[in-house]
Amino acid sequence: MIKKVKVEDLRVGVYIHDFNCQWNDGIIYMEPDFIKDENVITILKSWKIREVFIDTDKGLDVKRSESRTTVKKEIGEQKPKDRLLSRPQVPLAQELNTAKQITQDAEQLLQRVARDVQEGKTPDISSSYELTNRMYTSIRQNRDALLLLSRIRTKDEYTMQHSISVSSLVINLCSYCQMSESKILDLAVGALFHDIGKAVVPQELLTKPAQLSEEEFVEMRRHAEYSANLLAKVRGLPIECYDIALHHHERYDGSGYPHGLKGDAISHAAQLTAVCDVFDAMTSERCYKPAMEQVAGLREIYEARGTFFHQDIAGDFIQSVGIYPVGTPVVLANGTSGVVVGSTDVMMRPVVQIFYDEKKQERIKAHTIDLSKTDDVIASYGEAKKFGLTSQQLLTRFLHQQPA
Ligand SMILES: [Fe+2]
Ligand SMILES: [Fe+2]
Repeated sequence: MIKKVKVEDLRVGVYIHDFNCQWNDGIIYMEPDFIKDENVITILKSWKIREVFIDTDKGLDVKRSESRTTVKKEIGEQKPKDRLLSRPQVPLAQELNTAKQITQDAEQLLQRVARDVQEGKTPDISSSYELTNRMYTSIRQNRDALLLLSRIRTKDEYTMQHSISVSSLVINLCSYCQMSESKILDLAVGALFHDIGKAVVPQELLTKPAQLSEEEFVEMRRHAEYSANLLAKVRGLPIECYDIALHHHERYDGSGYPHGLKGDAISHAAQLTAVCDVFDAMTSERCYKPAMEQVAGLREIYEARGTFFHQDIAGDFIQSVGIYPVGTPVVLANGTSGVVVGSTDVMMRPVVQIFYDEKKQERIKAHTIDLSKTDDVIASYGEAKKFGLTSQQLLTRFLHQQPA
């Protein structure tokens, strides 16, 4: 039976026949679906949707109070799993080739979607699940490849490269949290298009090398709503995609925009994307600021735990990236130094390419050490500028050394 019910009465296991969503100038088409977790209810509440239509023949009724066991059986709910860092399954050099192709295809897709938007067409994002599925597989095989490539930037392609990077970071974070593959892909697609609204923000604002005026700032902030409105024209996207677009600038302490949502009123999907978005923005070079080192970016995320970000989400993000992300210059206790070129399943013991003798202050023949298999340990962070390079140049140099 189809019936209209209040959002506050919804619960996991109810089948939503019609989400009854209207958003500004867009109508949001969502496929009928089960409420698989509490996040969907959080999103509906944060959108101020008061009533939806449910189908009690396909799912639970809002009034019946089945035991938790029944609900679990009906929707196949899984116990939350432990967090896990995975050891690379495929060598970095090999996975880099795959990741390069994925990045190129992602750039083409985003360029095409931005063009559709600028020409007033409904964006064609039909291939985005296939693409994010390849990103997901690549991260499972060797997470360093995509994350490393997404650090290599050119300033003028910022929004496109930022979107690919945020989506990669979201996949990495959700994989670390052992979320289901289908959920990860939903969030990855949302993250890929979270800033699509910037395609309709005047280009001068996006690339202005000076501080924005109050008026310009207001316009810039509207990109979140533009993104949600544009995605609202696309049929069949899960609710998380719209919500990520609309709410990725909300902050846990209520200081964000556009709605100043606070705490758990912000969906889990939007909170996960927010932390990845901020980290990528901080560690990217822009026309108005240099790039922050990844390690400094992680420290900022740590400092913002409990204020801008939920404590646990900030913690999971740091763990998922690792305290020695690929590209980090490090000094070993044995007096040599180099750069992290790969992760292992032991966060403190990554793979390091050594090419400098700290005592003699001279370069030595480059060689690679897997610290999880030796007694050598990292003593401190190093500095790219010591080798006469920026971190970006250090990464590029490393990439060029990889066999094609
Ligand atoms: Fe944004
Ligand atoms: Fe962003």
